Amino acid sequence: MSRLVVVSNRVSIPSGGAKAGGLAVALNALMERQGGLWFGWSGKTSNDAKSIGTPVMVEHNGVDYATVDLTPDELEYYYNHFSNATLWPLMHSLPEQMNFDRRSLQTYRGVNVRLAEVLLPMLRPTDTIWIHDYHLLAMAAALRARNISCPIGFFLHTPFPSPDMLSSIPEAALFIRDMLSADLLGFQTNNDAENFCASAQRIAGAARLAGGGLQLGSRQIRVGAFPVEIDPQEFAETAERCGENAETGRLRRSLDGQSLILGVERMDPTKGLRHRLAGFRRLLESRPEWRRQTTLLQIAAESRQDVDAYQYLREDLERASGNINATLGEADWTPLRLLTRGVSRDAIAGFMREARIGLVTPLRDGMNLVAKEYVAAQDPDDPGVLVLSKFAGAARQLGAAILVNPVDPDEIADALDTALRMSRPERQDRWQACWEAIKDTSALEWGRSFVQALGRAGTEIPRSA
Ligand code: G6P
Repeated sequence: MSRLVVVSNRVSIPSGGAKAGGLAVALNALMERQGGLWFGWSGKTSNDAKSIGTPVMVEHNGVDYATVDLTPDELEYYYNHFSNATLWPLMHSLPEQMNFDRRSLQTYRGVNVRLAEVLLPMLRPTDTIWIHDYHLLAMAAALRARNISCPIGFFLHTPFPSPDMLSSIPEAALFIRDMLSADLLGFQTNNDAENFCASAQRIAGAARLAGGGLQLGSRQIRVGAFPVEIDPQEFAETAERCGENAETGRLRRSLDGQSLILGVERMDPTKGLRHRLAGFRRLLESRPEWRRQTTLLQIAAESRQDVDAYQYLREDLERASGNINATLGEADWTPLRLLTRGVSRDAIAGFMREARIGLVTPLRDGMNLVAKEYVAAQDPDDPGVLVLSKFAGAARQLGAAILVNPVDPDEIADALDTALRMSRPERQDRWQACWEAIKDTSALEWGRSFVQALGRAGTEIPRSA
């Protein structure tokens, strides 16, 4: 069997303390099952030639983890600027938050090439290479330029924007052509895959093939949707267990019978947090009967604090939450609890089970695994209600949630009111439909299906007419 080589900006070494975003959670399942090599950034910076050029190897449960440091300049221009202040807002179609400068672009390209060169000596001719996410759009091309002919797959964890939106960045065509160096391009939804194909056709001159592929020059590339999954059964068990632990017990007692509304995410401008707090405020102002009856617990774990937009967001949220509590709270009632530090997975699972409402309202999101986790965490007998942005990839599967437009505070307030009043039979029906959509999926199957499709890429695409 071919060895799987995963390349991603963040490498999640079990027990290594790396921050677990959606990408790391989804990939761990596959790597731990089938072994292989996982290569990427160590999470550290250094100016020392050895630390940036020679990977540190760690073996754990049959997986080799290889990581290198970035230089402080690379951290600034590749990670903070180009990846997170240019590509991240671009991919989420939030152009007003997008910065662009040529130096960052050059450093970004330079890091993609440098990481390809560090990876090169570790590769075997029979490897299968799977590159992840927006940090490494140019990596497949850098490997091909160094005569690597193994199958290469690329998966984008974020949404992919429309051709018009993508064109707002200089050198969009080059990025598309770089991505087309892979044999299989995977996206979260059909909409993202379609946006990519339309961009490849309009901006980079690729031809569409019958059956969902693209042709550029003599090369054929397969494109498809591979929605990322969680392990619903495992999460359900964790939530059932943690719903009874001391931490959840303390939260329950502190609520004193109030309904809990819960939001959980990294503190990120794409997550719709400003609008969400405005929606909660609107609920309490327009329907005062809910005062003292409900509390919003918003966990917004600090993230990417060296990027300006994230610092501004933090300031705004602290101000908005202070304002809600100061103007609407009572001596014995605090409407909003905002936590900006990370909270353990067990605690989140327990809190989700306790919450009457899971409030997940990103402005745009590739998938959003929190929405799936909230569904999995519910007690089937007395489930809570998911209020979900219609612009999250997860909304395609979880259409039985209350779907909202995340920029409209009135719509959020209406959805909260509906959810708080919802009868138990309706809650059960909606939950059952959501659960059916995810219960037989798994993170492992997601990874396997991509790798299998990569194995078939190149052999299955019908020749163009
Ligand atoms: C998202 C991205 C991942 C990223 C994670 C955490 O899920 O798709 O690639 O790792 O956020 O962000 P960070 O910048 O801390 O790696």
